[in-house]
Amino acid sequence: MSAPSHATELPRVQTPLPGPRSQALFDRIDPHLTGSNADHGIYPLAETGKRGYLIVDADGNTFADHMSAWGASPFGPTPPRVKQAMDAAWNQHGMQISGWLPNTAAFALVEKLAGIAPGRLTRVEYSVSGTLAVEGAVKFMREASCRPLIITFGGQYHGESTYMTAGASSDLSNVSSGRTQYVSGMVMVPYPNRFRSAFRRGPGPFDDCEVLDYLDYLLVQQIHPGQVAGVLIEPVLGEGGIHAPSQAFWDRLGALCKRWGWLLCLDEVQTCMGRCGEMFAMQRWQGIDPDLLLLGKAFAAGGQPIAAILGTDAVMAKTELHLGSTYGFVPAACAGALAGIELIEAGGVLENARELERIFLEVLTPLKAEVPQVGDVRAVGAMAAVEFVQDRASSTPAPAFQYAVHHAVLRRGVLGISQRGKWHYRLQPALTMHPSVFRHSCEAIAEAIREVAKSPPVERGSIQEAVADAQR
Ligand SMILES: Cc1ncc(COP(=O)(O)O)c(C=O)c1O
Repeated sequence: MSAPSHATELPRVQTPLPGPRSQALFDRIDPHLTGSNADHGIYPLAETGKRGYLIVDADGNTFADHMSAWGASPFGPTPPRVKQAMDAAWNQHGMQISGWLPNTAAFALVEKLAGIAPGRLTRVEYSVSGTLAVEGAVKFMREASCRPLIITFGGQYHGESTYMTAGASSDLSNVSSGRTQYVSGMVMVPYPNRFRSAFRRGPGPFDDCEVLDYLDYLLVQQIHPGQVAGVLIEPVLGEGGIHAPSQAFWDRLGALCKRWGWLLCLDEVQTCMGRCGEMFAMQRWQGIDPDLLLLGKAFAAGGQPIAAILGTDAVMAKTELHLGSTYGFVPAACAGALAGIELIEAGGVLENARELERIFLEVLTPLKAEVPQVGDVRAVGAMAAVEFVQDRASSTPAPAFQYAVHHAVLRRGVLGISQRGKWHYRLQPALTMHPSVFRHSCEAIAEAIREVAKSPPVERGSIQEAVADAQR
């Protein structure tokens, strides 16, 4: 891959965080902000721009960007090809409501998606955000099956709408703490997890199919399989800490879907378009045969907001649903998304994502043997996590340790994904991040973990108390 200028520049932090200029900006703007937007404890810096794969703050500090707009900026600096395609579409179409007015920009993207969509997926529904795509998929599943129930997995995240905060649980412990909406129609089983089991004590490795034993139990004790419309699952658990189910899990889940006529919906909002080292994360396994597949985040290629629901003829050809939104598939967003897919097809991007996975595991896995608080180290393409525990034997979560590591890492100029109350620390860099910058970051994380381990913070008795502590 040709490296753009600044691609190999390393980060440098030269002030305490927040620096004086960032703090002055916070002081001015905070009276006008709300909730988490006015909370600068997690990211104590005010971004003023980007340079290569670095975030620059108001004090001139630079940080290697391992958030990449939560995965929505998959190529780091906006690739000229994506920008040119978007500019051309703006000039040609301006704003257009694609769900009502047929237009060639949307058609070009639909044809490309139909060409690359795996398995039986042939149809494309326009959307604008991941949350709306999931909401729409739930409606499709219910309409196509005339059944009410959706099976979801604990720890998943599908967005902040009323319905989707009920269908997910990853943020019960922090962002949406105490404000989750409870609605009917969702049946939740634990996400397949080989390190931490909902049914057993201590650290794994566990057989992650045991969650399907539990589902079998629910099918006898609580729900009738004929009432289930479908299964909503992230192929790799993102917000819940980067878990990739086993092939055996997918085989058995697929068999259950076939047996009971359940639709399989893959929420690939976070995992699509190269994030996991394949165009779609499901391609890391054999034989997954979805009825619906959801795109968001990296699908936008760092351009305008866009999301999509891919589906089979059986689910989508004769639908009476109208899921339109004013901003779904606006022409410039379509042109950017199309250019992004073409960039991946041109080669180098998926290979780089797999190289980042290799580097992460190579640098951080040895810490499992060295630091008792490092419970597990996981990576699937360019999404990676370190899970922290209080002690190896019990594998009790260590959110205070995670939060301290995040700040020790930030001081070293590495900006990853951390949340209060979570005990895994994540990286989600641009798929194209230069391996030398990524390796430097992984080494900085290892150093920060060793530093925190010398004097570990006190862990509280509950996740809720850990969140409260971190907010002080
Ligand atoms: C798996 C998954 N689904 C859905 C969403 C919601 O997407 P959005 O924030 O674009 O509404 C997210 C966002 O993080 C996600 O990770």
